[in-house]
Amino acid sequence: MTVRMTIDGVSREAREGESVVDLITRLGGSIPHVCYHPQLGPVQTCDTCMVEVDGQLARACALHAAEGMVVQTASQRASAAQVEAFDRILSNHLLYCTVCDNNNGNCTVHNTTRLLAIEHQRIPFAGKPYAVDDTNPFYRYDPDQCVLCGRCVEACQNVEVNETLSINWEDPHPRVLWDGGSTIQESSCVSCGHCVTVCPCNALMEKSMLGHAGFFTSLKKSTLTGMIDIVKGIEPETGYGTILKVSEAEHAMREHRIRRTKTVCTYCGVGCSFDMWTKDRHILKVVPEHGPANGISTCVKGKFGWDFVNSADRLTTPLIREGATFRPASWDEALSLVARRLSSIKAASGADAIGFISSSKCTNEESYLMQKLARAVIGTNNVDNCSRYCQAPATMGLFRTVGYGGDSGSITDIEQADLVLIIGSNTAESHPVIATRVKSSHKLDGQKLIVCDLREHEMAHRADLFLHPNPGTDLFWLNAVARYLLDHDLADRAFLDRWVNGLDEYRRSLESFTMEEAARVTGLPVDTLERVARDIAAAKRMCVLWAMGVTQHRQGSDTSTAISNLLLVTGNYMRPGTGAYPLRGHNNVQGASDHGSMPNNLPGYQSVDDPDVRARFEAAWRVKLPTAKGLDNHQMVDAIHDGRLKALYLIGEEMSIVDSNANYVSAAFEKLDFFVVQDVFFSSTCQFADVVLPAAPSLEKDGTFTSTERRIQRLYQVFEPREGSRPDWRIVQDVANHLGADWRYQHPSQVMDEIAALTPLFAGVSYARLEGYQSLQWPVAADGTGQPLLYTKQFAFPDGKARLFPLSWVGPTDRPDAEFDLHLNNGRLLEHFHEGNLTYRTAGLQQKTPDTWVEVSPQLAEERGLQSGTWVRLISRYGQVRVRALVSDRVQGHELYMPMNSTESVVNRLTSSHTDLATDTPAYKETSVRMDVLPEIGESPLPRINFRFGHPTPQTGVEVERKWKRADYRIPGTQFLRILKQ
Ligand code: SF4
Ligand code: SF4
Ligand code: SF4
Ligand code: FES
Repeated sequence: MTVRMTIDGVSREAREGESVVDLITRLGGSIPHVCYHPQLGPVQTCDTCMVEVDGQLARACALHAAEGMVVQTASQRASAAQVEAFDRILSNHLLYCTVCDNNNGNCTVHNTTRLLAIEHQRIPFAGKPYAVDDTNPFYRYDPDQCVLCGRCVEACQNVEVNETLSINWEDPHPRVLWDGGSTIQESSCVSCGHCVTVCPCNALMEKSMLGHAGFFTSLKKSTLTGMIDIVKGIEPETGYGTILKVSEAEHAMREHRIRRTKTVCTYCGVGCSFDMWTKDRHILKVVPEHGPANGISTCVKGKFGWDFVNSADRLTTPLIREGATFRPASWDEALSLVARRLSSIKAASGADAIGFISSSKCTNEESYLMQKLARAVIGTNNVDNCSRYCQAPATMGLFRTVGYGGDSGSITDIEQADLVLIIGSNTAESHPVIATRVKSSHKLDGQKLIVCDLREHEMAHRADLFLHPNPGTDLFWLNAVARYLLDHDLADRAFLDRWVNGLDEYRRSLESFTMEEAARVTGLPVDTLERVARDIAAAKRMCVLWAMGVTQHRQGSDTSTAISNLLLVTGNYMRPGTGAYPLRGHNNVQGASDHGSMPNNLPGYQSVDDPDVRARFEAAWRVKLPTAKGLDNHQMVDAIHDGRLKALYLIGEEMSIVDSNANYVSAAFEKLDFFVVQDVFFSSTCQFADVVLPAAPSLEKDGTFTSTERRIQRLYQVFEPREGSRPDWRIVQDVANHLGADWRYQHPSQVMDEIAALTPLFAGVSYARLEGYQSLQWPVAADGTGQPLLYTKQFAFPDGKARLFPLSWVGPTDRPDAEFDLHLNNGRLLEHFHEGNLTYRTAGLQQKTPDTWVEVSPQLAEERGLQSGTWVRLISRYGQVRVRALVSDRVQGHELYMPMNSTESVVNRLTSSHTDLATDTPAYKETSVRMDVLPEIGESPLPRINFRFGHPTPQTGVEVERKWKRADYRIPGTQFLRILKQ
């Protein structure tokens, strides 16, 4: 709805409720504002946006447009207030822009000085009695430059919701505090960088900027101080106008040396996008602002975890095995060898003796080319990707019930939900930016949160209700809750009648799922389960988030199906704020499957069984395609052991340690006749290769990724590929052409054009439509219309109706017994991605979290007489690892947890080859071990400087009211008004 109002005498149309700062900015005007940031809302600490409304001063950032409102931004009174407020800002900040790394044209303090035409300060600068805090490896805080705007506090408290930052408003010299007064390094700070991103000046800065961005900023500190003194000395004579001109000339010079390139994060599936600022090959900083999934948000990996790109141990030449070692080879020699060996194996044993594994770190275009290589050039459907290790069961659950194998809505839907149910997902560590949205809605908007997990991780700790069932029993309680809702007339009958098939059969399948039986199987009390059912029934909009705690079980697909069934029973599809959200692990695990790296599907989930589909691809590719479903990753390993699969071409997958039962997988690789591994580093898997091909990481190529919310986004090349390496799409094309194909792709956009032409799901996808920060959520119609929320008109089945899918209880495969008496769970950490091949190459991450550990409950620690740092040996039926214990109340009783961040103490030496019954996803989470306590006691595996030892200081935000209560605070404007009148 729009309203009419008057600004500075001109009638304007505004959106009702829009802040006056936003309105003026949208109309192309300008108004001073320092603390206001559109993604933080009105913080109201700086007072520089004062305007006059009906004779009263008001802060424009907190003033909402209303019909008939009359605003004066430049009246004598408003101007005086703005100038006085900004004078107070400058009393907290030295203007030394020419020698400041933040002099890049976007410094709010600099630009406001220019906007207000400030020539001289009335209130002199006064430093604060605190030292610079540069203890954190990634950023530093300079209290003397801090204008106390509180943006950082607001971002930390209410956007990131880590609740580390505050300002001690009552202190004679307020400053920003970490955990109420700790050093940054010893605080609860997770180094997500939100605070640094929103700081309007140089008080908080990325260390990678310091001394690198400016032409004079790398000077010695004494020289810099001298230059600052000179500037201060000439200011009374020249005024700031002249000084700013000098600094703006220096800024103009920087425009030629600093590149700003949009890219998409290479780590998890949230899909954060940002500008990467670079100078030559040095990464100055990561600036998130316009990303449709993340806005100003990142986690530590996306903000600071990029050192691997310039790591000295990047692969820079192809390697060919010679006996037990490798020798460098030219690209031509390596590619010729690959083609020769694959051709001879195909000739001798058939195309199906060769397998292909694509990477979920690679782009959509690369995944497409990999499956095209397998199918069109070699002639096999033996192609898969690592969604087999995590996401395939969730996709199966959705295919069975609603039709599309992707999140049913967007992150904004999760934010809007009245109830979020998280099952088997350590969201705050595995999908950190999605977790911020849940934490924020829970903290500020009354969203209810139920978490079901084995560990009391951060989300569990924050939840209104934390459920800790027996391992592997989620299916049972989900079905029991669904039955309870149906039995007690709490289901959404109208929705079921109109939109859902199969209710009768489904009800019959629930026969044995009583609350009492659920309590016996899961260990959750009946009244707790009934409360869950009633909370779900009471919620108008519910989203369910789940991850590998659900999928990596023998019944991973069934449990995912049970979740979707429950959403159908309660009518929680087809509306904003509802739906199913299996959180995708890798940055492009969604896209890798979407684009056909699957043994049963061509791109866009078009079945290899379908003759019409095959005919379309055959016509385009001018080949005959194989018809039989191929082998998945898991089956390929078995086939190698059986002698059926003789060659494997694997891209960017650390399969020898991330696949379950790693010893068995490694033994398979030993048996291969020929093994090609393509990677950025010489990974553990490379040790088994015959040829290693050096690839380029995401920052060195163009392409697209598809995030968990089905969002397709472009990444632009930040750097040239490191000398000797090549982007994966080029390498796959090179291999294809050495095998006799005639591919002529010059750029990934041409690959995307081909995908769009052959794949109805992506019919309207093009690079032009994805320019810059534009994105599309599939399915994308030919006219370019995407679908942020699925199923708004119907479900993706021929009759438009969803399907309730009956399930029965099988139970977990590997349960503790007398010999293997402990349950071992495993998963990710916030600061390392998977085994850490990329993140361990960032020194700050290595320092904060140098190693893995096994979490042991206080009860078990006491029983076995161990402490944090005690070495233990874990032994399963499949292998053993030596690892240090960490005593933690995140785990209970005889349950253990081991993060995956190690290439030495590899948790998958313990996991089995049991799999999900429907998809072959390994049952990683069903592992029993025994624990031998070793005599050695080392340091705790988690250093004291890790954020997990911090003590957050939750508060509602920056709490500006406390500033307003200070004896020395008054609304600005009166003092200078008097001066102006004289
Ligand atoms: S957690 Fe740390 S880096 Fe993130 S916003 Fe808070 S203080 Fe800043
Ligand atoms: S450190 Fe925080 S309070 Fe200080 S200027 Fe930066 S954002 Fe504002
Ligand atoms: S790892 Fe995930 S949450 Fe973190 S910045 Fe990257 S995409 Fe965002
Ligand atoms: S911008 Fe309005 S009070 Fe700071």
